[in-house]
Amino acid sequence: MLITRKFHFSASHRVYNPALSDEENFRIYGKCSNPNGHGHNYVMDVTVAGEVNAETGFVMDLSEIKLLVEKEIIDKVDHKNLNLDVDFMNGILPSTENIAVKFWEQIESKINAPGRKLYSIMLQETINNSVTYLGKK
Ligand code: NI
Repeated sequence: MLITRKFHFSASHRVYNPALSDEENFRIYGKCSNPNGHGHNYVMDVTVAGEVNAETGFVMDLSEIKLLVEKEIIDKVDHKNLNLDVDFMNGILPSTENIAVKFWEQIESKINAPGRKLYSIMLQETINNSVTYLGKK
């Protein structure tokens, strides 16, 4: 069984590799590498896989997922600059892929428990672009 909680947050970033010239960054990342950054209204689905608990009828209480993800991720990134303001993004190129991996690392050990585990993080940067991370394979 898969259960999913959806989250929304807004954040800004500049997608660039500091080891490359501005010209190379523009070739790879286009306007996403503009020096002063830009913002997105992100949507995230956190999905947990597990067995339905016979007593509660839940795989995991969705309100527990809500509180956990708000504390460990949303409160730290909402209305922030992902290049500058977020401790766990320090030195990380804030592509959608890299953000999803870092988010996974923030919550995996707190969600995994006997009978359930973090299954996926879907992070949507725009209506057309999203990534889904299933953990290290
Ligand atoms: Ni962007």
